[in-house]
Amino acid sequence: MDRLVIEGGVPLQGHVVISGAKNAALPCLAAALLSAEPVTLRHLPAVSDIRTMVKVLQALGCSAEIEKDPEGFELTATLCAAGLEQGDLRAPYELVKTMRASILVLGPLLARFGKASVSLPGGCAIGARPVNLHLEALERMGAEISIDKGYVEAQVPGGKLKGMNHTFEKVSVGATENILMAATLAEGTTVLRNAAQEPEITDLAQLLVKMGALIEGIGTPVLTIRGVEHLDGGEHSVVADRIEAGTFLCAVAAAGGDVVLDRMIPEHVRSLIDLLERCGCVFTERQGQEGMQLRVQREPGQKLRARDVATSPYPGFPTDLQAQVMAVLTQASGISVIKETIFENRFQHAMELERLGANLRIDGPTAIVAGPCALKGCTVMATDLRASATLVIAGLVAEGQTTVDRIYHLDRGYAGLERKLQALGARIQRVGGGSVS
Ligand code: EPZ
Repeated sequence: MDRLVIEGGVPLQGHVVISGAKNAALPCLAAALLSAEPVTLRHLPAVSDIRTMVKVLQALGCSAEIEKDPEGFELTATLCAAGLEQGDLRAPYELVKTMRASILVLGPLLARFGKASVSLPGGCAIGARPVNLHLEALERMGAEISIDKGYVEAQVPGGKLKGMNHTFEKVSVGATENILMAATLAEGTTVLRNAAQEPEITDLAQLLVKMGALIEGIGTPVLTIRGVEHLDGGEHSVVADRIEAGTFLCAVAAAGGDVVLDRMIPEHVRSLIDLLERCGCVFTERQGQEGMQLRVQREPGQKLRARDVATSPYPGFPTDLQAQVMAVLTQASGISVIKETIFENRFQHAMELERLGANLRIDGPTAIVAGPCALKGCTVMATDLRASATLVIAGLVAEGQTTVDRIYHLDRGYAGLERKLQALGARIQRVGGGSVS
């Protein structure tokens, strides 16, 4: 089992190119099921969740051609969902249990074929992660859904989903994506209210429009989709990963340095930029060759100010950056209060940060961080994707050597994080095999 070994205390310097967003790539891959023609997606991050989603699509009968970029950070994939009618359209538990976003094939399969059998994803480290909001909305569109032996068994009597007016009872990224895709081929018009507005949903909608979907209100909480008979194939470059970008911003804020992020969209991390500016970091935005560039500076030794933060749906502070900002706030002078409002168990990284010497207390959905505290390297264990990123950040700060175990969690969502950090001067190595931790 791979692990990362980090020698802390080195400020980060240089330039890093941000890869495409895993959380945009996953729904865009699922969208290929909506057409019998090829869909080509560029800037897919070369991470295990993407490979798993491709396997799910292949298990459903899709053909897939994958090209890796020379540096190994991104992929280009061409998927074709022609000739699936005869298949049993079953997304197997063995794959779905490793990547819960597989549930995103349900909406497209029902919309195009009127039937689907998708394993329930089950919970994960950060919470129960139910899919009731997905299933309720699909039933309102005319799907008949039952749960049988851990599978969602769904079919559409009469073959076509029906458009509807629907207000999500709570904001859900995945449910918004599933129903948005389902509505593109439904009979009539669908209006979705209290829809999630994450940039990844906007990116998915832009792909669907390229494929011929009729969608209004993109980027707002009210999406109006007029169903069409069929969708064409298409080509799309997936939006830059705001969570990878935010992870690098937190790394510089915590470890100090001066780094330029390239091929990213500063607006997508505005809530984090505002927070880190209030803590004392300096940001500069400018146009680069491949899109916007964002420079972040924190002079080593420059004090950080403690600040409070609460996660909320976009454009609020992203739950996927909560763990990373906790590592930053261990270095801020004073008491910071972090409120996690999206998931019920997303502080598992706190116990590992305490092993490194962080001074914090968890009280239900609230973490109270007292800083600055000197972190001392030791062996820590990743528990989930973003927790592993925060342990890497803490290792960049800690005096001495930090070993992060179980980094298969990290590999789900970050392509070559240690290589990108090495290029910024970090002393970090991936060590294969070895201890069963
Ligand atoms: C997406 O998960 C992301 N994953 C998550 O990123 C991200 O943390 C989350 O959105 C919130 O931004 C992908 O895009 C693949 P939700 P998703 O539905 O869609 C509850 C990462 O680190 N809920 O917006 O599963 C749910 O339990 C991952 O990259 C229901 O109650 O999140 C949670 O409390 C982690 N019923 C809240 O809503 C449902 O049917 C928000 O979940 C669906 C969700």
